[in-house]
Order: sequence, then structure tokens, then C-alpha cells
Amino acid sequence: MSSAVVIPAAGLGLRLGGETPKAFREVGGESLLVHAVRGLKAATAADLVCFVIAVPPGTEEAVGKELEPYVGDVQLLVVPGGAERPDSVRAALEVVPVDGIDCILVHDAARAFVPVEVIERVVDAVRAGAQAVVPVVPVTDTIKRVAPSGEVVDTPARSTLVAVQTPQGFSPEALRRAHAVEVLGATDDAMLCERLGITVMTVEGSADAFKVTRPQDLLLAEALLAERRLA
Ligand code: CTP
Ligand code: MG
Repeated sequence: MSSAVVIPAAGLGLRLGGETPKAFREVGGESLLVHAVRGLKAATAADLVCFVIAVPPGTEEAVGKELEPYVGDVQLLVVPGGAERPDSVRAALEVVPVDGIDCILVHDAARAFVPVEVIERVVDAVRAGAQAVVPVVPVTDTIKRVAPSGEVVDTPARSTLVAVQTPQGFSPEALRRAHAVEVLGATDDAMLCERLGITVMTVEGSADAFKVTRPQDLLLAEALLAERRLA
């Protein structure tokens, strides 16, 4: 099976703060994007034919040069991202080769430390015939639905809830069909599939696949990396 990897990396990282877009922020001396690319390359090995990275407009050339040493013989395409995450994924998807690819992984640059096993589980599930696959972890907080007024609407049973990570894996046909329909406020790609009635399968995710979102996440990332380098 041949895979392509799409990495939305065009966000500004407003919750993280700082001058640099989030994907270019460094942990252990390397950018989150470099960490993400290296992890995906290691996990997908022989199957991977193409990386498409969506980056802040104007940074395409610099990012292409930065990533070149990490992609080996895998094709690297860098495209300008859009205003929202789905726009960036769609821009990337437009240049993913159509022929010969039977799995597309979509992975947030901000989840730079996703373990190899999680990526493998996603790819294996697509290989086994799933149209859409997401890695998940149990939620630890109680989650409530809240009305715009601030009033609690209800509390879904925690045992039925999971937090969803990336990479999410798709058959190219399912992902292209999902992105052909514009959905406002889509926070992941599986959600677009769900709206079309495409079955989304879950596999076990990992706490290490957390999304670098707020400043304290950088501290966690530094600690995780230091621990891995010792192992
Ligand atoms: N992303 C993107 N294009 C956008 C917005 C987000 O490619 N217009 C990417 C981010 O670069 C990130 C992933 O989508 O890798 C997940 O988004 P998020 O964690 O929300 O990142 P940001 O949007 O950059 O952060 P914030 O929402 O705090 O501004
Ligand atoms: Mg965002």
C-alpha cells in the first residue's frame, strides 16, 4: 500500500503566543514541523511516497529547504495554507497525487511527538479496509454541553467520550469526498466524513500525541523529548 501524508502547519498558534507560527517553534533545538515529519517518515517507512505540507503563505520556499534533509527520497510538496485548518488541508489535498496512493494520513504539525505505534495502528486499519480512522484516548475531565447563556445543557456519560488525535487515516476517495463539501467550524477531517455517513473507526492513541496548544505544552514537549533521548 502507498501512503501520502498531509500536514496542516499553517496556523498562527494564537493560544501559544509568541512571534513565530506554531509549527516553527522549537523543542529540543528543532521545529515542531521537523519533529512531526521525522516521526511520520520513521513510522510509514517503505509505504510513504509523498509529503504535502500546508504552511503560512510566503514561507513555502524556506520550509521546503528546511525539510529537504528529513524526507529522503519521499516527494515533498509545500503549499500555502488557508484561513482555517480545513482550508489548509483542502489546499494540500489538491496536490496529493491521485494515482497509486491508497492511504492519506492527515497529521497536525502541532502533534509533533505522536509515537510510531499510533501511526502504525492508523495505517494498519486503513490497510484492513477502513475508510476513515482516528486515534483516540479516554477523556479525564467531565465534559458538559453548555448553552450560549452559560447554562449547562447536559453531561454526556464520560465512558462514551474520547479525545481525538492525529494522524487520521483515510481512503483517498473518502477524504476527497469529505472535503468537497464545505463545513464551517470543522475541527478535524473525520468529522467531515461523519457528515457524509462514512464510518469512522477508532484505534488507540497516546498521551504523547498531545497537541502543543498552550505555553505549558512546550514544557511538556521538552520533558518528553529529553526522556526519549535518554531511552
Ligand atoms: N492549521 C493550519 N491552517 C490553519 C489553522 C491551523 O494548517 N489556518 C494547523 C496548525 O498549524 C496545526 C493544526 O492545524 O498544526 C491544528 O491547529 P491548532 O492546534 O488550532 O493550531 P493553530 O490554529 O496554529 O493554533 P491557535 O488555534 O491557537 O491559533
Ligand atoms: Mg487553531
